[in-house]
Amino acid sequence: MNSVKLFSPATVANLSCGFDVLGCCLDNVGDEMIISLVAEKGVRITKIDGADLPMETHKNVAGVAVEALLDQLGDETTGVEVEIYKKIKAGSGIGSSAASSAGAVWGVNHLLGYPFSNKQLVAFAMEGEKLASGNAHADNVAPALLGGFTLVRSYTPLDILKLHTPDDLMMTVIHPQIEVKTSDSRSVIKPNITLKKAIHQWGNLGGFISGLYTEDYDLIGRSLEDVIVEPLRSILIPEFQRVKNAALAHGALGCGISGSGPSIFTLSKGEATARNVADAIREVYQTTGLDFDIHISKINSEGVRIIRS
Ligand code: HSE
Repeated sequence: MNSVKLFSPATVANLSCGFDVLGCCLDNVGDEMIISLVAEKGVRITKIDGADLPMETHKNVAGVAVEALLDQLGDETTGVEVEIYKKIKAGSGIGSSAASSAGAVWGVNHLLGYPFSNKQLVAFAMEGEKLASGNAHADNVAPALLGGFTLVRSYTPLDILKLHTPDDLMMTVIHPQIEVKTSDSRSVIKPNITLKKAIHQWGNLGGFISGLYTEDYDLIGRSLEDVIVEPLRSILIPEFQRVKNAALAHGALGCGISGSGPSIFTLSKGEATARNVADAIREVYQTTGLDFDIHISKINSEGVRIIRS
């Protein structure tokens, strides 16, 4: 048996100014998976630890993603078994389904001798996102597979870019222990926006990407603004505005909803500030009576990585 054990990272999508197109990869939060090639053909989910998720291949995001990869290869003989050790809670807004689908296709591609590039794997992993949320967005699976910050320049045809990551950028994420389904969170968004809002948002998206490349932390901070989705979604997240105010008051460059929520992300320059921000937002959340986790992480420039081969 040919097998690999992987770390598949959590990710923060949207990053305020890039709804459905921007994302980045965390370093110390993620799932573990064991992917094996076996003699019996077909794709099977053989173990799920840490979450109550479907074991049937066609209902499991990792299962459908691997099937999409094998279909593209025209491979009807390979057998794949997937074990998933979930550490990222479903509905947390830090790319739980993306970690499973990205890790599964990365592992199979590795064991098959890399028939596809990591960029090509994005399309297969998106099939998992489609199953999970009804929408095949790539802004979590792309950073999970490529690492760092990624931009979906186009969905049709798919064109994914890996962006530069400034060394001192740190992420602080608070995850309130309530579940917000991506499908519900997408249903509160309006399908049309005004030209005025579009101008505001694409100015920020350009500014953010320029800030990454020039390592201009102030520019990154003032570009972290969302005039389209955050006003509609933030009502689903208890104390969103108080958390944001506290983070900015303690030196965060910016703060917004992580993916479809309920997690809230903040970016800071340097670990000391990221820790101060964590303390400040912890203090806010302690008043809510809700359980929550806080993660402090540098940006993972590698994406999925091997723990043991
Ligand atoms: N861009 C997606 C959304 C990410 O915000 O709905 C979901 O994690």
